[in-house]
Amino acid sequence: MSTTDPEHRTIIEPFKVKVMEPLPFRTRAERERILAEAGNNLFLVPAREVTFDFLTDSGTTAMSAAQWAAMMVADESYAGSRSFEKFEAVVQRVTGFTHVIPTHQGRAAERLLFSTLVKPGHFVPSNNHFDTTRANLEQLGATAVDLVIAEGKDPTSRHPFKGNIDLPRLEAFCREHAGRIPLGMITITNNTGGGQPVSLANLRGAAEIYRRHGIPFVIDACRFAENAWFVKVREEGQLERAPREIAREVFELADACLVSAKKDGMVNIGGFIATRRAEWLPALRSLLILTEGFPTYGGLAARDLEALAIGLEESLDERYLEYRVAVSRYMAEGLERRGVPVMQPPGGHAVYIDARRFLPHIPPAELPAQALTCELYLALGVRACEIGTVMFGDKASMELVRLAFPRRVYTQAHFDYILEGIEGVVARKAELRGLRIVEEPPFLRHFTARFAPVS
Ligand code: F0G
Repeated sequence: MSTTDPEHRTIIEPFKVKVMEPLPFRTRAERERILAEAGNNLFLVPAREVTFDFLTDSGTTAMSAAQWAAMMVADESYAGSRSFEKFEAVVQRVTGFTHVIPTHQGRAAERLLFSTLVKPGHFVPSNNHFDTTRANLEQLGATAVDLVIAEGKDPTSRHPFKGNIDLPRLEAFCREHAGRIPLGMITITNNTGGGQPVSLANLRGAAEIYRRHGIPFVIDACRFAENAWFVKVREEGQLERAPREIAREVFELADACLVSAKKDGMVNIGGFIATRRAEWLPALRSLLILTEGFPTYGGLAARDLEALAIGLEESLDERYLEYRVAVSRYMAEGLERRGVPVMQPPGGHAVYIDARRFLPHIPPAELPAQALTCELYLALGVRACEIGTVMFGDKASMELVRLAFPRRVYTQAHFDYILEGIEGVVARKAELRGLRIVEEPPFLRHFTARFAPVS
C-alpha cells in the first residue's frame, strides 16, 4: 500500500521519460560468445552488450530535466563560482553542517579526511566499512573494524534495521582502544551489509558513545535519503515525519559526513565532506588544493555542482523515495516467489541473491555466485555482481549476487520481464555448473580474473 497515495496499491515511477536510451538486445547465442570472450567475468563485458545493467547504483542515475537545465547556467569560474554557492547552501540546508568541501567522488572525501586525522596504529570502528573506506584507512596503517549487530550477518533475519551497530560492543571497543580512535563511523545505509538501514535510535546511541569517549562521529552518508525513508516507515513514532527532517536529525548527531554523491546525490560524478569542525578545515583545504582542486570546485566542474545541488533535494522527495525502495522490495518478493532465495528484508538500493542456497549442488570452491552471474547474463542480458569467494577468497562468509538498481532508469515492465525470465533459470538450475579461475591478478581479482567451467 502506498503511503503517499492511499487510494492506490500500485507504487508507480513518479516521473515521465523525456530522454530515452535504447536497450541493447542480444540473443542467447550471441551472449554465449560475448561471455566466453570476457572469460566469464561480467566486468569484462562491454556495456553495449548488456540489456539490464545492475552492476551498481553508483553514478548510474538518470538525471532530471531540472538538473540538465541547471548545468547550462553553471558558472565555471575557477574561484568563488556562483554554482558553488548554490551547492554549498543546499548541503548546509540538508545536513546542517557549516563547512562544505567538494570532492570528485566519495573515496576522495575519505582520503582527504582520513589523511588529516588518522595515524598508523589507529582503530576506526563502523557498522561495516565499505571497501574504499577500509582500503583508505588501511593504507594509512590504521585498522578498520566492523561492529554490525549479529542479525546484520544473518541473511534470513528479518530485523528491520540490520545495519545497526552493536552498541555494547562499540562501548567496549572505545574503552579498550581509548586514545587510539581518531574518529568513529557509521555507514547509512550499510552497503557492505546488504544496503540495510540504521535506526535513528541506534544512531543516537552511537553518537552518545562517541561523544562520551571524545571521538568525532563521521557518517558515511551516500544513501542518507534511503536511510531516512526506512526510518520513517519502520521506526516507531517516525511515520509522520518528512524524510528531510529525519535526515537532518541524523546529520545533527554527527561531527561530519563523507558523501559519494553518485548515490543519493542523484548525479553521475561527485562527492563532498561536510562538517561543523572548523579546526579540521585548514588541513583539509590544503590537501584539497594539492590533490583535488580549488575549494570552490574540488575536482568537479561547476555544472556537476549545479546538478548535485538539485539532486540532493530530489532524493528527499517522498514519492521518489517510496518508489525507490519499492523497486528492491518488488524484485525481492518476485524472486522469492519464483524460488530464488534473497537476503531479507531487501535493502534500499539492491537485492542480494543467496547463491549458496539457490545452487546447493555447486560448492563455494566452484564459485556458485559467479556461475549465477553468468547465467543471469546468458538468460536475460542482466549484469550483476558477485560478492562471494571471487571477491573475498577464503574470507567469504556468503555467496551472494548483487543486483544494484540505478535510480530512475528502469521501469516496472523491465523488472517484470526479468522476473518472467528468471523462471527459466530456476527450471534449469540443476544443469548449472561451477567455475574455476584460469587467470587472476594479485589484487582485487574480481575485476579482471578469467573463469572457465569446471569439467
Ligand atoms: N561508501 C559507500 C557506502 C559506498 O557504497 C561507496 C561506493 C563509497 C563509499 C565510495 O564512493 O565510489 O564515489 O568513491 N559504492 C559503489 C558501489 C562503488 O557500487 O557500491 P565512490
